[in-house]
Amino acid sequence: MADEIKTVAIVGAGQMGAGIAHVCALAGYDVILHDISPDRLQAGLATLEGTLARQRSSGRISEEERQAALARVRPAKGVEGLAPADLLIEAATEDEAVKRKVFAEVCPILDPEAMIATNTSSISITRLAAATDRAERFIGMHFMNPVPVMELAELVRGIATEDSTFEEAKRFVTSLGKKIAVAEDFPAFMVNRILMPMINEAIYTLYEGVGNVEAIDTAMRLGAHHPMGPLQLADFIGLDTCLSIMQMLYEGLADSKYRPCPLLVKYVEAGWLGRKAGRGFYDYRSDEPVPTR
Ligand SMILES: NC(=O)c1ccc[n+]([C@@H]2O[C@H](COP(=O)([O-])OP(=O)(O)OC[C@H]3O[C@@H](n4cnc5c(N)ncnc54)[C@H](O)[C@@H]3O)[C@@H](O)[C@H]2O)c1
Repeated sequence: MADEIKTVAIVGAGQMGAGIAHVCALAGYDVILHDISPDRLQAGLATLEGTLARQRSSGRISEEERQAALARVRPAKGVEGLAPADLLIEAATEDEAVKRKVFAEVCPILDPEAMIATNTSSISITRLAAATDRAERFIGMHFMNPVPVMELAELVRGIATEDSTFEEAKRFVTSLGKKIAVAEDFPAFMVNRILMPMINEAIYTLYEGVGNVEAIDTAMRLGAHHPMGPLQLADFIGLDTCLSIMQMLYEGLADSKYRPCPLLVKYVEAGWLGRKAGRGFYDYRSDEPVPTR
């Protein structure tokens, strides 16, 4: 555990929030989990419980570790319940207005010394920091999905992030067993600057009829040795998140090469957001995923 941090509050109990809660609890931190939706909060806690149980049955953690981690996680009773946090990690929907609203709510409640981190995939850390009352204690802490499995977190400093905040964040991420890649504060940082245009290009390949869903994913799995096809990966990330990141690249870098594929826009407009919605480039509502094109 990092010396200064004992209690971690996580805002947003979706795919990422539940995963971050999981690794924090296993590393010995007390965790308070919050979501605007009580259903999503319950679902996040259930996901965490299920992942810990799978890790136990596959022998990756002991029964004592599983029980201790579970006992360290509690749901917040409203935003006020986040007050004891030494570190708050914001993992709400990838939408700047949503994140600004979260910061406006939590800043008056938190200890003035508490650090705030955002798990944003693409939004400017400097801009988000300016929406808080503590730009010097604010940092980008970009975990990868699924958090319990992926080894990396990108750390991104805003223009005002103090060295002490950066060092503390490094110690914290390391204490979770993650490796760090330091990125400068540019749209989508490093991983998504490279990954997301590849996914967007796969969607263009589908849109232009070069191949169907199965052919495109098979081509990249077997032809480029990617562990997952790009369309399967897009569904896994969430198509709303993919679109938000492409929009941030397109607008932030003012370059037409980042234009979001119209087919991606259409899927998001349909509410076909990928695995979390039961349908995206694949339909997950039966036992085996079925391509939707
Ligand atoms: N999905 C990925 O692969 C991935 C990877 C790295 C980072 N991220 C980033 O993590 C963040 C969350 O992504 P996700 O995939 O977990 O999304 P998600 O849709 O699974 O979860 C987002 C959660 O935020 C909650 N929320 C929305 N407004 C809120 C508010 N005002 N207060 C509290 N909770 C609120 C929603 O109810 C939802 O449960 C985004 O910034 C995203 O870019 C995602």
